[in-house]
Amino acid sequence: MKRTLGVCYYPEHWPEEQWATDAAQMAATGLTWVRIGEFGWSRMEPTPGTLTWDWLDRAIDVLGDAGLQVVLGTPTATPPRWMLDKHPDMLAVDAMGQPRKFGSRRHYDFSHAGYREECRRIARLMGERYGKHPHVAAWQIDNEYDCHDTTLSYSEAARKGFQDWLAQRYQSTEALNRSWGNVFWSMEYDSFDQIDLPNLTVTEPNHPHQLAFRRYSSDQVVAFNRAQVDILRRYTDTPLIHNYMGRTLTFDHWKVGADLDVASWDSYPIGFLSDRLEGSAAFKQAFLRQGHPDMQAFHHDLYRAVGKGRLWVMEQQPGPVNWAPYNPAPLPGMARLWAWEAFAHGAETVCYFRWRQAPFAQEQMHAGLLRPDSAPAPALAEARQVADEIASLPQVGTATAQAALIFDYESAWGWDAQPQGADFEMFRLAFAAYGALRRAGLSVDILPPDAADLRQYKLVLSPGLMSLTPQLRTALEGYDGLALLGPRTDTKTPELSIPTPLGPNLAGLDVSVALTESMPPDDSISLEEGGRFLHWFEHLEGQATVFAKTATGQPAIMGTRHLRYLAGWPDPGTFDHIIAALCDESGVTTTPMPEGLRIRDTDTHRFVFNYASHAQDWNGTTIPAAGIHWEPLT
Ligand code: GAL
Repeated sequence: MKRTLGVCYYPEHWPEEQWATDAAQMAATGLTWVRIGEFGWSRMEPTPGTLTWDWLDRAIDVLGDAGLQVVLGTPTATPPRWMLDKHPDMLAVDAMGQPRKFGSRRHYDFSHAGYREECRRIARLMGERYGKHPHVAAWQIDNEYDCHDTTLSYSEAARKGFQDWLAQRYQSTEALNRSWGNVFWSMEYDSFDQIDLPNLTVTEPNHPHQLAFRRYSSDQVVAFNRAQVDILRRYTDTPLIHNYMGRTLTFDHWKVGADLDVASWDSYPIGFLSDRLEGSAAFKQAFLRQGHPDMQAFHHDLYRAVGKGRLWVMEQQPGPVNWAPYNPAPLPGMARLWAWEAFAHGAETVCYFRWRQAPFAQEQMHAGLLRPDSAPAPALAEARQVADEIASLPQVGTATAQAALIFDYESAWGWDAQPQGADFEMFRLAFAAYGALRRAGLSVDILPPDAADLRQYKLVLSPGLMSLTPQLRTALEGYDGLALLGPRTDTKTPELSIPTPLGPNLAGLDVSVALTESMPPDDSISLEEGGRFLHWFEHLEGQATVFAKTATGQPAIMGTRHLRYLAGWPDPGTFDHIIAALCDESGVTTTPMPEGLRIRDTDTHRFVFNYASHAQDWNGTTIPAAGIHWEPLT
């Protein structure tokens, strides 16, 4: 497949005389896509019902005439100020009960029916006008669901919606009381309208109550997105896309993705390292200007699966961002490396964010491909280089990996409600497992929790899955590769209580979790053959074979030839050791990677990315800092 590059552009930010030169320069840089429109509502409809499309018509024409394909965004992440006069209760409400005000963006409540209707309306108007436009070749719906923590809202609309949702799910309050265990502390209800949102309680709200609210809130995002999908499908056959974010687990991306054609995400490696990832000071220092070597890969692999094989990067960091605590500039070469890494993981298109740095408003300190004075910023030449390389490099296709990782959003909500240890968090655990696979030089496929067929994979990791779906349980029970479950896998019912018999409950795996402990950061459980568990340790019992023990002789890994249960959260070195042994057993070749060097195999090529700030040797080739090497697979 031919890979392509693009850029995010805001014609409404610049004098119209500048559009044509901008468009020509984009095309001359080798960019073929331009995303526009997603924050333009106040210019599309300056007052209720007054539609001013003329500027957008001209912008699309100017860009299209320069040879660019347009991704048109629906502007629903930024309702104009008048919308609040029309719908004064459309603002989301925080957990302390305070409405979140106008004056930035994403000031809406996913549960608000009136606002959802306004979004349908603007999507319909845009669809009617641009659905068959020859230059509009894809659509983006809204922008970054949950950005600025906007999935959860404790509003009146949410309270009413939640009550209806509960009535549909549980049918009777008796069933709900039983499921949630509401007899505990006399929390029983006798009508659905008594049930409030799980905030502002005296001490922690009941965990299943929290989990139900998380499920409800996720369903609102799915429904909000679907409302626009259903409208746009009437007017266009081009791909419908949403731009997801990094480390965002508040809604079920698998479900949103099921309604869309492509999954894209917004990749800000340096911002993420500083703002969104754990890591020692030394590690963060080493990757300060490059980002975490596994963060981008993880999300490419995740969203490739969410997009049913179709992945884009809708926003790619080009230089310093404005929103992290500290915002260093990328090492020269990184704007190229990140794009190629995305392509190697299956991205069809990478769009840099943004064309020109805005000299005004909230993101004036955020770099673009051009400086505010229109001179080239450092990333422009790198984008140009990538465009030239795409033209000369053979096609890059996606191959099925040998190893898979199951990733589940509902489990994340369950563990948020009931972490049991302050640092138990789903992304962190899954990312630890992913990192171990990547440090072993493996390419990885990420699979949804209802994966029903694992036969293509030799090795499957399934950490932290609250309860197994029937499909996955059946697939695991008949699996003839090697699956590593745990810690914490299949140890709860879907309603977040403890199953009896105790989990995990897989036919043929005589292992159960008898007792669970969590540990503070400076404590750990030592293993007999070296290594240790951090954060979490489960006391296992049963008749299955013990494959590894703790220093005090308790099972650390137990199971069968095909199914193993991991009792704790290994530190990175221990995880590496475990993965190496499992790969050895399952005939998967590993390539232990030096810090910062990562491999990705496509169907035809091996790509090696050097995230380090120094040159590294790879099989006799020297890969410079922030450099890339590719070679045909033999
Ligand atoms: C993304 C967002 C963009 C812009 C960018 C800055 O989260 O979608 O609109 O704000 O971050 O890094």
